[in-house]
Amino acid sequence: MSIEIRHVTHIYDAGTPHETRALDGIDLTIGKGTVFGLVGGIGSGKSTLASLMAGLDSPSDGSITIDGEVPSPGKNVGILFQQPEDLFFERTLFKDMVLGLTHLGLSEEEVEKRIFFTLDQVGLSKQILSRSPFHLNRGTLRLAAFASVLVMNPGYLILDEPTASLDPGSRKRLVEIIKRISEDITIIYISHRLQEVIEVSDRLVVLDKGNITFNGTRSDYLDWGAGQDGGEYLPILNQILYRLHQLGLDVDLKVTQREDVVEQIRRTLERT
Ligand SMILES: Nc1ncnc2c1ncn2[C@@H]1O[C@H](COP(=O)(O)OP(=O)(O)OP(=O)(O)O)[C@@H](O)[C@H]1O
Ligand SMILES: [Mg+2]
Repeated sequence: MSIEIRHVTHIYDAGTPHETRALDGIDLTIGKGTVFGLVGGIGSGKSTLASLMAGLDSPSDGSITIDGEVPSPGKNVGILFQQPEDLFFERTLFKDMVLGLTHLGLSEEEVEKRIFFTLDQVGLSKQILSRSPFHLNRGTLRLAAFASVLVMNPGYLILDEPTASLDPGSRKRLVEIIKRISEDITIIYISHRLQEVIEVSDRLVVLDKGNITFNGTRSDYLDWGAGQDGGEYLPILNQILYRLHQLGLDVDLKVTQREDVVEQIRRTLERT
């Protein structure tokens, strides 16, 4: 059970002066039951790979299968886009959430049950369903957008910058929810925020100009990141830890949760 990406190349505007090779012969297997972090600089191909995995576009070359089938959004894969709240357009959240479920042939009762269950998963109350999306704050709307994707019950869930432009409180809340639901659903987590990616991911992939430059476990990523120029692929707190290590101090470089890293730094400084 996995997403199999084989020799995938994707070219935008082929044959024009604007031709862009967004992905260049990618091979990748995303096993079921993992949280897969996908990082890389601006324009490195993350969102392109996300939309191909989500079946929203077909690769120019190569193939992608999900558990042996073609990717089919809303069926075997779900995707939460960047700024998903822009996609709400109904008068109530309920109407928006019901949209994807209508073609599944569920009874009204089953639809309600699934929506209530999902709202509970993301910590929203039922009362919110009768509210207009246009009168809710961004943090709540993001959770609602997340619920709209979750309610479809996808085996694989792609999150493209899920915490972008949220305040710190909403961001923390969403990351905690993602950590919790990742026990039941395979997640591909795309973000510029390395701290978040490190906290949630079992494995990480780094894209650079459409090529994979790293693919390995979180522990291997920390080793790899430390070896890169200036440690720019490490979250800032892990960079500090690494500098302390370079100064000859005894630190555990493999800690990943923010609180644990802060505690390591505090204890190390206390000892010096
Ligand atoms: N619809 C499109 N038409 C033409 N070129 C595109 C299109 N989408 C992306 N590109 C180009 O493809 C390359 C990869 O873009 P992509 O959006 O996949 O990168 P990304 O890693 O998601 O970047 P970011 O970190 O900014 O979200 C970039 O050079 C981008 O300009
Ligand atoms: Mg992107």
